[in-house]
Amino acid sequence: MSSWADREAPAAGQDPVLAQNPVVIVGSGHSGVAVAAGLRTRGWDGGILLIDSESGQPYERPPLSKELLKDGAPDEAAVLRKEKFYADKGIARLAGVTAESIDRDGRTVLLSDGTRRAYHRLVIATGSRARPLTVPGARLPGVRSLRTRDDALELKMRLVPGARVAIIGAGYIGLEVAAAAAAKGCEVTVLEFQERVMSRVTSAPVSRHFEQLHGRHGVRFVFGAAVTSIDGGERAERVTVADGTAFPADVVLAGIGVLPNQELAADAGIECRDGILVNGDGRTSDPAIYASGDVTRFTSPIDGASQRLECIQNALAQADRVAAHITGQPAAEPEVPWFWTVQHGVRLQTAGVRHPEDQTIVRGEPSGGKFSVAYLRDGRLAAVDTIANLAEFRTAKRLIAQGARIDPVLAADPAIPLAEATSGAPSHDHAAADLAAARS
Ligand code: NAI
Repeated sequence: MSSWADREAPAAGQDPVLAQNPVVIVGSGHSGVAVAAGLRTRGWDGGILLIDSESGQPYERPPLSKELLKDGAPDEAAVLRKEKFYADKGIARLAGVTAESIDRDGRTVLLSDGTRRAYHRLVIATGSRARPLTVPGARLPGVRSLRTRDDALELKMRLVPGARVAIIGAGYIGLEVAAAAAAKGCEVTVLEFQERVMSRVTSAPVSRHFEQLHGRHGVRFVFGAAVTSIDGGERAERVTVADGTAFPADVVLAGIGVLPNQELAADAGIECRDGILVNGDGRTSDPAIYASGDVTRFTSPIDGASQRLECIQNALAQADRVAAHITGQPAAEPEVPWFWTVQHGVRLQTAGVRHPEDQTIVRGEPSGGKFSVAYLRDGRLAAVDTIANLAEFRTAKRLIAQGARIDPVLAADPAIPLAEATSGAPSHDHAAADLAAARS
């Protein structure tokens, strides 16, 4: 990591003027709210101000593409914390207000309501936004993405029996919405430009399993589909792909990935590279400014890779590191990242981050509905996908953290527990050495 990563921040509380100023947190998603809560848990008794562009209470995002879309589910997103929590903990909130620029020398943030807020430490937890579709017609009414509570509620209204739903992108969002739409009796077509579903995050056997699962629920897939335009009069009516085929649609949803909301930091001269660069403490290239969650890029303490993780686990783990550093306390040990998705009631849980070149070992028979896929890198367990197999997911997380060496022949036999498919000398030393190298 670059040299700024090791610089010391000014000691908290030493400057009486700075000490009066609060920790200002921009963004009240999972990470921002967790920083605020973590600061109080760790005894921070200065001010805390939580700012967010969205109005209303900070809410949970995972249900937006799952439970919230279901018939009969309440038309409101679950809140992250009750309003009373913020009051009890002395956490001030400004909702519906955007942080527009940072004056790093003066340590203030300019807000869209025209006020300027002084900070002692600033935390940027602005998350990510849906990558916009840029083809002609992409701005026609009826073309939507799914990122916020309002996006989800509007989409829910449109998912009615018989509605023709064209989904662009077979990633997490596209597939979870496809499942919800199919369950509501919509006619669902998913247009994906790769050759299989969830190709960013998983291997071909898992993709195949989920493609077949969706197929059994009537979802149609078109792979290698390059969308060239969205056409219609007053609203989107069809999606056209490169070979000229047009797919009629009442609802068009683009789920084609996300972009980090890094502009606030980049405009202030903070180092960014597809994400705000942070060190292991969550500090940016400005020692008084931290960043946390989806918006960050950092060196993995597990394998030394530069990464930007889009998951709740990372949002919470980084928040803890930021709160720990601001209060001058040790943070929890790094955790193996994990992810989950539920489609048609089938749960895929992933531990670790798979690389496409990893050795892939399928454990069990996918047609049985319960199986896992282990990913080995240089003989060590790097990641595991588990389908309907929570116990193996837990074991895998532990083995990955230990840097366990796995015997691929033993691992391919599902009758042998993964923990007994390890090979070679105890691997803890390797893991510890790697961790030390990654941190140095
Ligand atoms: P994604 O990166 O998971 O999937 C995007 C998909 O769109 C990829 O398969 C990609 O090949 C495809 N694609 C990209 N451009 C395309 C184009 N022009 N035409 C057709 N296909 C195209 O991103 P997704 O699904 O949008 O999710 C957004 C974010 O939400 C991610 O951060 C994700 O982690 C998060 N999320 C996570 C969930 C979970 O963990 N269960 C659930 C829902 C969202």
